[in-house]
Amino acid sequence: MKTVVALGGDGIGPEVVDAACYVLENMGVDLEIVKPPCGEKALKEYGTPFPKETMELTNSADAVLFGASGEASVIILAYLRWFFDTYANVRPVKYYEGVLTSIKNPEGVDFVIIRENTEDFYPGREGDISLLAERMPDYKDILGRRFADYGEGKFAVGLYTVKGCRRIAEFACKEALKRKRKGFPGKVTCVTKSNVLRETGGLFQRMVEEEVRRHPELTYEHFYVDDMARRIVRFPREMDVIVTTNMFGDILSDLAAELMGGLGMAPSACIGDKHAYFEPVHGSAPDITGKGIANPTATILSCVMMLEYLGMEKDAGKLEKAVAEVYRKGETLTPDMGGTAKTMEVAEAILRELM
Ligand code: NAD
Ligand code: IPM
Ligand code: MN
Repeated sequence: MKTVVALGGDGIGPEVVDAACYVLENMGVDLEIVKPPCGEKALKEYGTPFPKETMELTNSADAVLFGASGEASVIILAYLRWFFDTYANVRPVKYYEGVLTSIKNPEGVDFVIIRENTEDFYPGREGDISLLAERMPDYKDILGRRFADYGEGKFAVGLYTVKGCRRIAEFACKEALKRKRKGFPGKVTCVTKSNVLRETGGLFQRMVEEEVRRHPELTYEHFYVDDMARRIVRFPREMDVIVTTNMFGDILSDLAAELMGGLGMAPSACIGDKHAYFEPVHGSAPDITGKGIANPTATILSCVMMLEYLGMEKDAGKLEKAVAEVYRKGETLTPDMGGTAKTMEVAEAILRELM
């Protein structure tokens, strides 16, 4: 039997993870779900948001379900991304009938953002400009200015490695091929800012282009991120597989979530070669924490992705169908979807569809 470790994290994280686990535990899947202490609650009780025993269980799990990080659980998120090296953040954008969205005609929206999850400006590498002035006194930027010319301030460094760009390019192409077999166009859309970031964005773009060329059955396009933000809103049905760098992917995935009903709906998977973890796109939502009104659907759809990853495609399909059915009926909706239902009521409605 496969083991899933469920880590709620902070804010609404434990609320939506509890709701998702309630569905998983009662739908009859062959999974052992373990819920060790973590997050804000563990910080209060044990003085750490990520006790050693929790970390050990996390290490040996077949998959991890994560809720959200606010302040306390950033360390857990960092562990899951950088120590597990989960470099591919898969963020599907799929409209389900009945969902309240921010666009007029959301029917048929079904694409995926593949966000590089380990490089770029993450984890923040920052410091005082004076440090650069001292260490790189001769470096001149495109304007001919040295760091010392800029006075007091801060810098941030973005890193993009050949290995990092290559593996996300490969992942995106595999995803496009997989989707093509299911009837999608088989198109990779690369998003960078290589007009300004010629070296870094240029490397990412080149690596994606090299990889796409190995797959003549795929089509390819590239857009700058500013134009892409507009295109996602204007031409959402033309998208298939979008591949982009970490921070652009972070921003574009919140934007694109609105096409499928917002953050309460948007799931994600963080996949590495040895580990994978699953989390909604949203955060700890301090403004609604403790009210019992968080939409658990994003987390439940993340469980669909988790079941697929674990090779339990049949269960994944059933669970996704149950979610779709609840929205088609439109009787049990949380406030973000225009209803008055509570988090657990949505979980119960989804479970009823599975029975
Ligand atoms: P957020 O995603 O927590 O919330 C943004 C808005 O969306 C809020 O109005 C919130 O109420 C709403 N929302 C989010 N999830 C919802 C749900 N399931 N149902 C209904 N409404 C929902 O983003 P934020 O407010 O910018 O950040 C709050 C904290 O979360 C910060 O500490 C941030 O760093 C963190 N964060 C963590 C993750 C993560 O763990 N992966 C993702 C995003 C933000
Ligand atoms: C996300 C979040 C995180 C990110 C934060 C909490 C570090 O916004 O998962 O989308 O920027 O990746
Ligand atoms: Mn984000």
